[in-house]
Amino acid sequence: MKKLVVCNQKMLLARDEAKLLRKALDDVDLSKINFIVCPSYINLDVFKGYNLGAQDAFYEDKGTFTGEISAYQLSLLNVKFVIIGHSERRMFDNEKVINAKVKAVLRNSMTPILCVGETKTDKSLRRTSEVIKRQLETALSGVVLDDTQEIIIAYEPVWAIGSGKCMQKEDIEDTILYIKKILSMLEISNYKIIYGGSITPKTIENIRNELVDGYLIGNSSVFLDDLNMIIKCIK
Ligand code: PGA
Repeated sequence: MKKLVVCNQKMLLARDEAKLLRKALDDVDLSKINFIVCPSYINLDVFKGYNLGAQDAFYEDKGTFTGEISAYQLSLLNVKFVIIGHSERRMFDNEKVINAKVKAVLRNSMTPILCVGETKTDKSLRRTSEVIKRQLETALSGVVLDDTQEIIIAYEPVWAIGSGKCMQKEDIEDTILYIKKILSMLEISNYKIIYGGSITPKTIENIRNELVDGYLIGNSSVFLDDLNMIIKCIK
C-alpha cells in the first residue's frame, strides 16, 4: 500500500509563496505515495488538482457563526480530508467540540485526520496511554463508520511538534499498537494511522517504520528541497 504523506502547511505561507510552492511541487515525482496537501483556507484553490485537506472545520453546516468555516462549505470546494484536534487547535476546542467536528467531516463525505498525542508533562508523568485512550474515546464517541468511510489517526506527540525532537522508532511502534488496540475496542476497523512531529530530512530515517500508514509533515512541508528528500526516503 502506498504510504500517505500529509502536508500540514499551517499558517506558514502567504498566497504568493503558496503559488511558488505549487509550481515547484508540480515537478516532484509523487507517484509512489498518496500525497495530501492541507493549505490555509485561503490557499486551497492554489493547490487545485491535488488531494486537498483542510486544517480544521466547524461542526455546524450553516449558520450565524462569524469567522467559522464549516465542513459542509469545505466539501463543496473539493476538500476530501480535514485535520481535527491538532494540538495547535486543541486549546480552542474541548473534546465535545472535537467529537462534533469529526462527525461533521464524516457527515459531509470527507475523511477526518484526527490528531492525538501526549504533551511533555503527560510523558514525564507516564500518562501517555491514558491520554491517548481518552482522546480517542471522546473524539470517536458515537462514531460508526460505514464501508465507504474511513478515519485517519495522526499520532503526534505534542512535545515533538516543531521541536526538532523525534521519537524513537520502537516507541512510535509501541504507541501505534496501543492505538490499534483502542480502535478495536471502539469497534472502528476502517482506519489508517500516520505519525507526525518534527519530520525532517534528518529525522525521517529514524522515524520511518512499517507499522505506520504514513506521515504528517508540518514545517518541512513548505520547503520543497526538504519535502523532496523526505518523500524520497519514504518511498
Ligand atoms: P512539524 O509539525 O512537522 O513542524 O513538527 C507537524 C504538525 O504540526 O502536524
